[in-house]
Amino acid sequence: MCGIVAYFGRKPAQPILIEGLKRLEYRGYDSAGLALLEHSDFSIYKTPGRIANLEVILPVPPQKAVLGIGHTRWATHGQPNTTNAHPHVDYTGKIALVHNGIIENYATLKKWLIKEGCTFKSETDTEVAANLIGYFYSKNQTRDGRGCPSECDRFEWAVQQAINEIVGTFGLAILCRDCPETLIGVKKGSPLILGVGKNEFIIASDASAIIEHTSQAVYLSDGEMVTICRDSFSTKTLSNETVDAELKEIEISLDQIELEGFSHYMQKEIAEQPASLETCLNGRIDLKNGRVVLGGIQSRLRELTRTKRIILTACGTAWHAGLVGEFLFEQLARIPAEVEYASEFRYRNPILEEGTVVIAISQSGETADTLAAIEQAKERGATVLGAVNVVGSTIARMTDAGVYLRVGPEIGVASTKAFTAQVAVLSMLAIELGRRRHLSNDVAEGLLKELVAIPNKIKSILTQSEIIRDIAAANVDRENWLFLGRGFNYPVALEGALKLKEISYIHAEGLPAAEMKHGPIALITDGMPAVFIATRCAQYDKIIGNIEEVRARGGRTIVVATEGDEQIRPYADHVIYIPDTCDYFQPLLTVVPLQILAYHAAVLHGHDVDKPRNLAKSVTVE
Ligand code: M6R
Repeated sequence: MCGIVAYFGRKPAQPILIEGLKRLEYRGYDSAGLALLEHSDFSIYKTPGRIANLEVILPVPPQKAVLGIGHTRWATHGQPNTTNAHPHVDYTGKIALVHNGIIENYATLKKWLIKEGCTFKSETDTEVAANLIGYFYSKNQTRDGRGCPSECDRFEWAVQQAINEIVGTFGLAILCRDCPETLIGVKKGSPLILGVGKNEFIIASDASAIIEHTSQAVYLSDGEMVTICRDSFSTKTLSNETVDAELKEIEISLDQIELEGFSHYMQKEIAEQPASLETCLNGRIDLKNGRVVLGGIQSRLRELTRTKRIILTACGTAWHAGLVGEFLFEQLARIPAEVEYASEFRYRNPILEEGTVVIAISQSGETADTLAAIEQAKERGATVLGAVNVVGSTIARMTDAGVYLRVGPEIGVASTKAFTAQVAVLSMLAIELGRRRHLSNDVAEGLLKELVAIPNKIKSILTQSEIIRDIAAANVDRENWLFLGRGFNYPVALEGALKLKEISYIHAEGLPAAEMKHGPIALITDGMPAVFIATRCAQYDKIIGNIEEVRARGGRTIVVATEGDEQIRPYADHVIYIPDTCDYFQPLLTVVPLQILAYHAAVLHGHDVDKPRNLAKSVTVE
């Protein structure tokens, strides 16, 4: 949530910051702004709306300043208007900063700062950080009257004093008018990366804003700050201890973050699934021996095999993948498993018996609720494993061990390729645990063979995009939809409904199909679309019964069925055929037509598919 980018180099900062903000726009897009520092003066440009709106108010040709900070916002405190947009300048006019995250104790700090004579212009929590730094910088002393030690840089010292007062999670990029050759970045909870180029440095919330300029980066740890002074940089803790910075190669490439001919990232990411799944499975499946090798957690497999209970925790789409995981662990490994909403788990004072293993699932690795759930689990002594996409993300670092999804950057706000990879990782793990507990090698081998065949089967579903578009077009005017599935397809029904809601703004409910008659059936009116996942599976006959119940009440049925199933035709107003697979892996196939359906519905409505209203890609606030 919120994207921050900062540049200090030899080139004009303005266009570099704008390009960076465009790359980060998926993180939040309700307002944007830049601050450029030149000749000890700030030029500040802010506007509600997208980066495109910001470009309109920027000087042409660009200003010559080679130092600047930029921000694209997802509002938490205060409406998305110009005043609340970042950068925020402190009451003395000396400090300008951009912020990603939340300052939890901002109200208390604000009250105190007002008492001390500071003035505020915005409703944001961010302005508190700016004023706090400005306060310590101008007073040049701590709250209890101790001055800045002579060996310390005053700007750095003021930042450290302020940050030590703040409770919350955040990333900051900060400028000081008195220090036109200095840029400071701080990381505490929210991601912050320093790109190190030739005579230039870029600080950003994620690597996509850096990769165009350099592939060398320092991934700051929590509680660290970086100070860039013209041609060099130093990293420190917030208590001023030097930290050795480790340069790492950024693992994403430019083509991974380009649209490459697609109209939207979501469309590209749906289409990438055969390849992304292959990468996810690659080198992890030993077909000859019917084994799975998951490097990151190999040393934990004994513990996992013996565990009495697995708890999966996640949010949104990742939670749906977790629900599939629950079924997989129960059925294949015969280990009791439950999926928990991270946002509920964190406050429920959960009981974790000794030996419980928690698996946190997250694309971004930054979701605040999931982070808090992991902390809860760790406090109670549980081993916590991660299934995360973003390499080096906070969740990847705070879990005891983990498996990366390896699907490359997912930029569309609606999660697609991360879901299929999450399910694939959980499938591999469940098969391996099953094999170690009770499954024969032959059964494990058969399952793994089927799993590696999935990417090709997805390819054949992708060719039906036009058919699915026509189905979307025929129903897109309906305001309420149902998504119904049973067994392994019940989580997919939930996911199909979420996809439709979040990008097309159509109200949709996902349900286990048999639950419908316990209440939701009252919603069915003439022509209401009901999407059934009725593939050949253990509950096929039962779901046919549920389809009849909907049709009897005038509902319009869109049925995802198994290729060759002619018996289904009379029950369906529209059919989408997909290849056959075993029950366990059905979600990997059945979700794809629902992703495509939601995509087309949103396009037909004329919505901004990659940047749906009110949303942001990673939810780094509670
Ligand atoms: O980055 P995460 O996987 O932790 O994100 C969890 C959810 O916020 C995310 O899946 C969200 O539900 C997606 N927008 C759904 O498409």
